[in-house]
Amino acid sequence: MKKILDLISEEVEKAFAEAGYDAELGRVTLSNRPDLCEYQCNGAMAGAKKYHKAPLMIAQEVAEKLGGSSVLSEVSAAAPGFLNMKVKEDFAAAYLREMAESDKFGLEMPAEPKRIVIDYGGANVAKPLHVGHLRPAIIGESIKRICRYAGHTVIGDVHLGDWGTQMGLICMELQKRSPELVYFDESYTGAYPKEPPFTVSDLGVIYPAASQRAKEDPAFKQAALEATVKIQQGVPGYLALWRHIMDVSLPDLKKNYAALDVFFDLWKGESDAKPLIPEMVEDMKRSGLAHESEGALVVDVKEETDTKEIPPCIILKSDGAALYATTDLATIKDRMQNFHADAMIYLADKRQEMHFLQVFRCARKTGLVNENTELVHIPFGTMNGKDGKPFKTREGGVMRLESLIDEINEEMLKKIRENAETKGYEIAADEARTTARVVGLAALKYGDLSNQASKDYIFDMDRFTSFEGDTGPYILYTMVRIKSILAKYAEQGGELTDAVIRNASNDSEKSLMLELAKFNAVIEAAYEELAPHRICAYIYDIANAFNRFYHETKILTEEDNTKRAGWIALLKLTKDVLEVCIELLGFSAPERM
Ligand code: ARG
Repeated sequence: MKKILDLISEEVEKAFAEAGYDAELGRVTLSNRPDLCEYQCNGAMAGAKKYHKAPLMIAQEVAEKLGGSSVLSEVSAAAPGFLNMKVKEDFAAAYLREMAESDKFGLEMPAEPKRIVIDYGGANVAKPLHVGHLRPAIIGESIKRICRYAGHTVIGDVHLGDWGTQMGLICMELQKRSPELVYFDESYTGAYPKEPPFTVSDLGVIYPAASQRAKEDPAFKQAALEATVKIQQGVPGYLALWRHIMDVSLPDLKKNYAALDVFFDLWKGESDAKPLIPEMVEDMKRSGLAHESEGALVVDVKEETDTKEIPPCIILKSDGAALYATTDLATIKDRMQNFHADAMIYLADKRQEMHFLQVFRCARKTGLVNENTELVHIPFGTMNGKDGKPFKTREGGVMRLESLIDEINEEMLKKIRENAETKGYEIAADEARTTARVVGLAALKYGDLSNQASKDYIFDMDRFTSFEGDTGPYILYTMVRIKSILAKYAEQGGELTDAVIRNASNDSEKSLMLELAKFNAVIEAAYEELAPHRICAYIYDIANAFNRFYHETKILTEEDNTKRAGWIALLKLTKDVLEVCIELLGFSAPERM
């Protein structure tokens, strides 16, 4: 389905051409002055120079041509040369009816769907998930859903950090605690126990202890680095321990991500890139692109046009160890070979911008990707506390994700109970809990996604959980309100299926219609810019437009049945659109709250 702005523009472009001007001048935008008109065109001003004519005259001539338009009404020329216009009620209603009947509300599908990998999550195995992991999970999940909805073939990969020094640290700490374990006996040749020598809560103690010890004891740190190399080289005892760490951590990570409604298609990690490294390195050496520098193997990635220093991409350290860049490069190779990716999108902190710049340039230069494979890093900012510094616990420590979710759910529970009390209905304890979880997640996700990803934002519990303002709970509250009206209509014996959208009968109804009509344009922009905040802004506008309409209109008591059914159809479309949008953002709505 064409975008509504395109249809309106076509109409005005035609009029410019009929009046003897460049059709292109007829491009229409949303009005800057909603008090005066719904849409505007500034083309007459742009054409004034070319045609040596006063812009107002051009605008008047065009307005005249639009007199008989079936799309536009109230077209007027305003000084110094604006064209102000509204759309006809029948046009708007017909557009919405078509939207309601079309697949995906008329969003056009790509002629050639792309194959896209989204690399998000990025948890480091054995370390607890903390608030730093929240943003990649939330933003990545939404971008994955948006790309998929836009018609592409998408794979979400968690890309675990499972190959780094934390694994060596855990091995060494374990050795300190239980030196008798068979894993550390290098002369042992038997099979290793199936049962891991620790539980997930043990790991929660072992890792922080190890990381603390490494800070105080350089010899311990060295031993941990060596243990990491042993894992990477496949020394059996260490590899067996590594397996145990993975087996114990993965279910816990899955549970934590599931609590956020974040679901990965692939649970691969840095370690999966390992088998591809030797051949990749050989190719890079053979082509002469990788060369030695201070004992390390590097690929130069600076370009003449660089205005800042771009250091070479280090492929292997002088001791032959692979680095973060190495596993990322080998993973690119994997994604090309096994998935034939057209695009790879990475969610990682903006402090990793240099890393991705180097990796992407190196991948291109060494031919790991095709010329037109897109490599995109979406750098995101930090979630800060009210003091403007990275979010911490009250004691100043790193906040675990689980604790943050618990806190927000508690706050939501309180608000939901309060609300039930003011509204005078009973809410059972488990319903209240389940609803608090659903709404809490919306509060958290919307609070994050409504900001542009690259910006830092302040986590503000009171604001995020409020039922009013630009928040997740406000959106859900609006949806619940619509659901309740639809349910009452059905109780009165109304049939939802016969209801069709009619011409707007007042301004607030028309505003709601014109907001809804932006759907395909908004989703397309959200996909192209990989920007979930576009969808947040859209649904916030819809919620506001709906609530204004709702307060001005007695819907259920309207006596004219056709009129009432028309409103119900509009409400149904509003609810359906909101449902799809929040699904794309990664949360859902309760039945009541
Ligand atoms: N594990 C990494 C970290 O905690 C993030 C991984 C991002 N993805 C990637 N392919 N490098 O910083």
